[in-house]
Amino acid sequence: MNQKTSVTLDQERPFEFDELFFSRTDERGVIQAGNSVFQSISAYSWDEILHAPHRLIRHPDMPRGVFWLMWDTIQKGNPIGAYVKNLAKDGCYYWVFAVVTPIEGGFLSVRLKPSSTVFEAVKKQYADLRDAEVTQNVSPKESAARLTDHLAALGYDSYSAFMAQALSLEVSARDEHLGRTKDASQTCFERLAKSAEDLLYCTSNIADVFSKNKHIPLNLKIHAAQLGDIGTPIGTISDNYTMISNEIQQQMSEFVRNCHNVSQAVGKGWFLTSTAMVQRQVIDFFQYEETCEAVNQDVEMQHLRAQQQSYSEQALKGLRAISSQIELFSQSCAEMRRLSTSLKVIRVIGKIESASIDNSLNNLDHLIDDLGQFQSVLGEGLDAVDVANKHMRSDVDILIGRRAAA
Ligand SMILES: Cc1cc2nc3c(=O)[nH]c(=O)nc-3n(C[C@H](O)[C@H](O)[C@H](O)COP(=O)(O)O)c2cc1C
Repeated sequence: MNQKTSVTLDQERPFEFDELFFSRTDERGVIQAGNSVFQSISAYSWDEILHAPHRLIRHPDMPRGVFWLMWDTIQKGNPIGAYVKNLAKDGCYYWVFAVVTPIEGGFLSVRLKPSSTVFEAVKKQYADLRDAEVTQNVSPKESAARLTDHLAALGYDSYSAFMAQALSLEVSARDEHLGRTKDASQTCFERLAKSAEDLLYCTSNIADVFSKNKHIPLNLKIHAAQLGDIGTPIGTISDNYTMISNEIQQQMSEFVRNCHNVSQAVGKGWFLTSTAMVQRQVIDFFQYEETCEAVNQDVEMQHLRAQQQSYSEQALKGLRAISSQIELFSQSCAEMRRLSTSLKVIRVIGKIESASIDNSLNNLDHLIDDLGQFQSVLGEGLDAVDVANKHMRSDVDILIGRRAAA
């Protein structure tokens, strides 16, 4: 970066995809150190930027809600990834994707140049949020909640799910700009995320069809009563079905919850893995960078290495957590499979009993068909879930192998 770039207000400050930067702050967000790219892009001198609060480079377009979320997350000891628009001393702005993590005595932010498709969508969200903050006096906390709502409308379950995907998309987009082949673990995570999405679709479909068919036992019961004595076997079938239906009902929430846990674990593992990767790249960049006297390169390198080591370990734990969640979900699936088999038996008996009753007296066939429809959705859904689970297990094993060997 050329520090003598001419001063032009509200112009974008260009920087290259291979320029990674970082800053380290104390617990209040006061800058303790950074690298040369961080300093030169800001157009402040080291004297001006060191020991200054990070808000020095805050851009007025940035929604306060984003910083509220950032501080809320990092003060709880968790990492966060966020798009940030910054303001340089000379009035130029520049966008970054920042990954901020708690570090001993403060926080570390590593940043890369964003360019993915999700970045464009986020700019629009930010503009709306900031507008609401300014014109409707929306509080930072409320603004953060609105950000989460906006992201939900874009299909993200939570801010965590969003930041995991945004970071990975930025890492891949950056690799592409730099002409690098996509990292193999990113490809593995993409497959995992796709399988997790399939799982969510299958489980919610099963839950939907179950809830739409909840009336079957009651209708069977009413029908049996109307048929008098000849309806007694149907009444018994209805009782058995009610019993299994209640069991399914009890299992269903756990089944759905365990599936969501798998998906969340994938997002978390992906974010931790990508974070460790970006931190590694910052180290590689920093070690060949020209440094200034104000920043002790050895000390900063130690901080970066320790942080990278810690996130590599957390990434491995994140991967093991995915494995455990898949295991728990598989147990729920096995339980559902058992109930599905019981339903099948009841349906077959129901079909036989229904055939023995004069058809002009009943529309049992119709009810038994409804039962069959749910049972086949459940069976087919569980088959699809088994396939996705198998793929996920193999992808997680590959990722664990790669990380353990790293
Ligand atoms: C490690 C770290 C990095 C940060 N990086 C930025 C940044 O690049 N730009 C920015 O405006 N705020 C950054 N912040 C947040 C600021 O501390 C501050 O909250 C924000 O500028 C909003 O200012 P305010 O809190 O006074 O409203 C960072 C905070 C931390 C802990």
